This record gives sequence, structure tokens and C-alpha cells, in this order.
Amino acid sequence: MDGRSAKLSGVEQTALVTLYLRAVESRSKDSILRDGAAAEAVRRLGDDFGLGSLKMRLTAGDRYLVALRARQLDLWAAAFLARHPDAVVVQLGCGLDSRSSRLDVPAGALWFDVDLPEIAALRRKLFPERAGHRTIGASVTEGRWWEEVPWDRPVLAIAEGLLMYLPEQEVRRLLERLTDRFATGELLFDGVAPWVVWISDRLPRVYGEFAMHWATRDARELEKWNPRLRRVEEVVPLTQHALIPSRPYRCLYRALSLIPPLREELKLFRFEF
Ligand SMILES: C[S@@+](CC[C@H](N)C(=O)[O-])C[C@H]1O[C@@H](n2cnc3c(N)ncnc32)[C@H](O)[C@@H]1O
Repeated sequence: MDGRSAKLSGVEQTALVTLYLRAVESRSKDSILRDGAAAEAVRRLGDDFGLGSLKMRLTAGDRYLVALRARQLDLWAAAFLARHPDAVVVQLGCGLDSRSSRLDVPAGALWFDVDLPEIAALRRKLFPERAGHRTIGASVTEGRWWEEVPWDRPVLAIAEGLLMYLPEQEVRRLLERLTDRFATGELLFDGVAPWVVWISDRLPRVYGEFAMHWATRDARELEKWNPRLRRVEEVVPLTQHALIPSRPYRCLYRALSLIPPLREELKLFRFEF
């Protein structure tokens, strides 16, 4: 791709990391995710975005965590779409994710991918819009873009690797907008433990100047903020280590899953409203 466009600032750079990790994971023979679109996107981005750099390669151990997270969200999303083939799907902070190509999206569903303008522009080049799929370039913390999303269908909102980058007030406001706008739906997201936010604030900024803000102490706090939300399910991706094809990583993830603070590093949540 055009190397002149190869500058991403701030939190947008995290989209490259998760894309790269899904692509690397998908190259393995027994891949968990089999995300061919991610592998193809990394090939097209080539060296323009430093995707083969040492810095990027050093993150490769996280590929199974990213794959296990995406797989669980895929399973929940597929189940929702099977129940609601006319759903509206809104991927908040979608990055360069290719979930819609991993799932069998019903023809009657409408799919909206939302991310900051720079990522949305890159996304449109990599994954051109097609019937029923739109990419919106906006901050999820703004209200106006919601006007582009039909409100008279069940909604599936997915926030993967996003909410930890928003201040708590913005998370609350985003959830309010969601439940004010739609009569019914599900919210899928991942949350990090407070120690992850604490450490991220103190480690050298490897990918750029941005910080984590929001930790999920207890998901029930969302029900207190927003009484329309009901917590339905919680999954800890590290406990799914049996799915990892590489034996050394399987053993490592298993060992980590036995240490409570490490196991709780990342959790996945499914809420209904
Ligand atoms: C860790 S990446 C995850 C991307 C994607 N969901 C995935 O799993 O590959 C975080 C994404 O959130 C996006 N993001 C952060 N703050 C945002 C905001 N206020 N509005 C929209 N997107 C945002 C970033 O641009 C980035 O693409």
C-alpha cells in the first residue's frame, strides 16, 4: 500500500498490533481463528506500517490471547445473529478487525464498523464497503454518528479492546447512548483488571502516547450505572488454554491461568438489555 499514509498516531496504533497478532496466529496450521482476511491485510500493508518490525514481533506471544478473545466474541456474535438475522451490528473501536468475514452474516443484517477517522480511512482501503456493511469514521464518544445507524432492530454492540482506553465517564455515556437508542440487544466487550491499567501507565510507551483508563473491577457496576443492562455471561480467555495448538504456549497459558491476578487480567462479558 501507499507508504505515504503510513503514520498512525496515538491509540490508533493498537489496531495494527491486534491485526498483526491475528494474522500471525492464523498462519499456524492449527490456527484457533483462521483469519485469512487478517493475514491478507498484513500482506497488503507490507512494511509501510512496520508490521514486520522487531517491536511488533516481540508482541507475538500475545497472539493466543487475542485469538481466544476474538473466538469467544465470534461465538457470542454468531449465536446472536442466529437468533436475530435482521440485527444491526455495531463494532465500536473496530480497528482493522475482520469479524464480518469470519462469521456467516445473514443477508438481512446491517453491519457498522466504527473507529477514529484515520483507522476508518485505512479500513475502507483494506476492506471495501459492500452491501449491508458500512465503516464510520468517528469517535465512539461522540453522539452524532449514531444517527446513521437504524434504531428499530435488535442491536449487537461489540467493543473488543476498546473500553479500557476510555475514561469511565465516557464508558458510562456510551452505554447510555446504546440503551437509550435501542429497545433490545446485547453488548459484548472485554475489560482489563485494575493492575493492568496501573502498569500500563508506568511502562514505557512502546506504541505511542496513549494510556489505558478504565478497568473492570466488577462487571455488576455496569448494572448499577445502567439498570437496563443485565450481565449474562463472563468468560476468562486464559482458561481456554486447551485450544492453543502450540504445546509450550499451552503450558504457559495454563500456568498463568492458575495465578488469580494473572488469570483475571482480561475478561469477556456479555450483557443483555
Ligand atoms: C486495541 S485496538 C482494537 C481494535 C479491534 N477491535 C481489534 O480487536 O482488533 C483499539 C481500537 O480502538 C480504537 N479507539 C480508541 N479510542 C477510540 C474512540 N474514542 N473512538 C473510536 N475508536 C477508538 C482505536 O483506534 C483502535 O482501533
